[in-house]
Amino acid sequence: MNRSVLIERTGKHPHVTMIEESIPAPKADEVIVRVHYCGVANADLMMINGSYLGQPKPPFTPGYDLVGEVVGVGRNVSSTLKGEYVAALTETGAYTQYTALPVEETIPCETAASLAQLACLPLNYTTAYQLLFRTAHVQSGDLVLIQGGSGGVGSALMDLCRLHGVKAIATGSTASRSYIESFGSSFIDYNDHLGDALKQHGIHEVQAVFDPVGPLSWKRGFDHLSTNGTLAIYGLIEGNYFAAGLQGLRLKICQQKKAVRVYFIAMERKKRHDRLKEDLQQIITWFEEGKLQPTISSIYSLADFREAHEAFRSRGKKGKILLKPNG
Ligand SMILES: NC(=O)c1ccc[n+]([C@@H]2O[C@H](COP(=O)([O-])OP(=O)(O)OC[C@H]3O[C@@H](n4cnc5c(N)ncnc54)[C@H](OP(=O)(O)O)[C@@H]3O)[C@@H](O)[C@H]2O)c1
Repeated sequence: MNRSVLIERTGKHPHVTMIEESIPAPKADEVIVRVHYCGVANADLMMINGSYLGQPKPPFTPGYDLVGEVVGVGRNVSSTLKGEYVAALTETGAYTQYTALPVEETIPCETAASLAQLACLPLNYTTAYQLLFRTAHVQSGDLVLIQGGSGGVGSALMDLCRLHGVKAIATGSTASRSYIESFGSSFIDYNDHLGDALKQHGIHEVQAVFDPVGPLSWKRGFDHLSTNGTLAIYGLIEGNYFAAGLQGLRLKICQQKKAVRVYFIAMERKKRHDRLKEDLQQIITWFEEGKLQPTISSIYSLADFREAHEAFRSRGKKGKILLKPNG
């Protein structure tokens, strides 16, 4: 049998439950994946609230990314894939023990030994990679500001900067100082005045800012961007859509030869799937070469998804929270 989480109703009074069904049969171009780990993402919580752009109508199973083992193949898929490990960016559907995926949406992985760390890669590292290299076009030697460095995407940004010789300065709570510094990034307490803190580090301006926080924070980062620098906005932790839209517009109007870009991985997945797959493949290769250090914050069983969501909402976590659907 196949246990999954099912969102039956979204909104202010959502209904989310566990169901048991038979293991799906693969369509011609699909593989059946036994899910070893799936990631917990803010998008899952937003989908439960009904606030994620383009989300499906309930009932549906949440879960943005996964790693697992191919245990079945459709008639157009080579049976040699059986027993192989794969990663996938699913957007929904990963909170389950077994799932059917189009084979072209899966990426083969060599590393069975570190599957949990691999599961930190598809959403957070692809977002970070595309923010750095597809959105802000950062280069080795550049100096960038990473807001929320200890978070899932923030730590992936720091890790990729370390690998590419990009100098990073990251904000976080006081408790996250040594974690941020372990990536070679400089630390700024997010309660301190940004301008003063940058000055203390001898920094006047940065070539790029990566910011999931909100309108006030975007403006602070924007003010410290160099000419031709990029503010890459990718989340809204504080503030509402109205204030965010207004601020985005204001910053775009007074651009002063600075770029303001909004990044949304769901759009990339829809419109530039091949490029996204190529980027994730590259990230997995670096991981398998031992070049990345993804952080697992904690691992929960599938049945404990509510506790995992509570942990995700709590402040001060570091890296990625995972669910382990099988065992
Ligand atoms: N656009 C996209 O395609 C995309 C893709 C992935 C994620 N996201 C979005 O990106 C955001 C972050 O995702 P995540 O998975 O990395 O979440 P996360 O793991 O919860 O990280 C959020 C980080 O932000 C920090 N933070 C909170 N308030 C802050 C403030 N005022 N100033 C500076 N830092 C602050 C938190 O620090 P403390 O916990 O220490 O307070 C934490 O380190 C979410 O809004 C998510 O929806 C967007």
